[in-house]
Amino acid sequence: PPLDEIVNLHDFEAVARVVLPEKAWAYYSSASDDEITIRENRLAFQRVWFRPRVLRNVAHVDWSTTILGQKSSLPVYISATALGKLGHPDGELNLTRAAGKHGVIQMIATLASCSFDEIIDAGVPGQPFFVQLYVNRDREITKRYVQHAEKRGVKGLFITVDAPQLGRREKDMRLKLIGDTSGAKVQEGQKDVPKDQGVARAISAFIDPSLCWDDIPWFRSITKMPIILKGISTAEDALLAYESGVQGIVLSNHGGRQLDTARSALEILVEVTEALKKRGTTRPFDVFVDGGVRRASDVLKALALGAKAVGVGRAFLYAFCAYGQPGVEKAIQIFRDELEMNMRLLGVRTLSELRPEMVDARALNVH
Ligand code: FNR
Repeated sequence: PPLDEIVNLHDFEAVARVVLPEKAWAYYSSASDDEITIRENRLAFQRVWFRPRVLRNVAHVDWSTTILGQKSSLPVYISATALGKLGHPDGELNLTRAAGKHGVIQMIATLASCSFDEIIDAGVPGQPFFVQLYVNRDREITKRYVQHAEKRGVKGLFITVDAPQLGRREKDMRLKLIGDTSGAKVQEGQKDVPKDQGVARAISAFIDPSLCWDDIPWFRSITKMPIILKGISTAEDALLAYESGVQGIVLSNHGGRQLDTARSALEILVEVTEALKKRGTTRPFDVFVDGGVRRASDVLKALALGAKAVGVGRAFLYAFCAYGQPGVEKAIQIFRDELEMNMRLLGVRTLSELRPEMVDARALNVH
């Protein structure tokens, strides 16, 4: 269908499923094992209900915010998704150009199909970026990558901590994609990759499973960028992250692609917000969430429960697979339109007016 017939973010997924080659669809859409967590990511939002307020003069509403000190036109950032060229010849550049035009922040994946510099160079002057890091067994490679990112002006380092080994994505494995990773960048120092485990595992053999809390000071010593740990799933680890001195965390189950039957970020958010409040934080510490976000109402629920912003992976990915850069622009427009309407109906003029009392989350931990 033509782009102007796209009404919501689900529509992009339906189009992507039809237009994408089987391999690309398998890689993007798959989640681990029985795919219970990926379904739960959507279901959790449906267990939270709004408690809208009325008569609050919502003639003017504003959904802009700052994320790690950077202006963002949406309380949403583009989360890292690997191998963009599997789905579109311009790969991640579709995201970069749309993000630059509309004031949205893109997180660049270590395993992006386009090179890091190509992506930065495609941005408009001053366009803010974050970078996602898979930590290499060879720390010199990681150090070079991080310091290069900082030199190119990247505003936040998101270290992925939920992937000491990639989850089994069986849809992907069955297609035995190795041998044709369509533009997948082969990592330095990566030689013996498993040949029968699907593209995801094949290209991630360089990731260091020995990464641990003791490594955090080393990251702090090699960069001044804010450090965010991506893939926190419990209050215990949220507190350890705070004590470790990093600037924030992403509550995430990696889009359901890692430990299956891990909980949704929304559920984790409730216990994390409570734990941080109980501890009493004395410095800025941002909590982000991702997984299953497809509606502005999802975004508002997460913010009401304490998130600073939310990450979106597949919705933007499917948008460019289906329609290239204009698809991503449309996805941003959809978020804007939905935010305007939902904020009016909820009775908030700015994101800072969102409160936990505006949602009924009592059913969240009831399965
Ligand atoms: C991802 N994600 C991811 N995360 C990361 O830290 N490094 C990576 O290379 C990737 N690659 C990747 C590829 C694909 C195809 C998907 C779908 C996801 C996870 C991503 O950053 C984010 O956590 C989830 O995508 C959020 O869930 P939704 O928005 O896809 O439902």
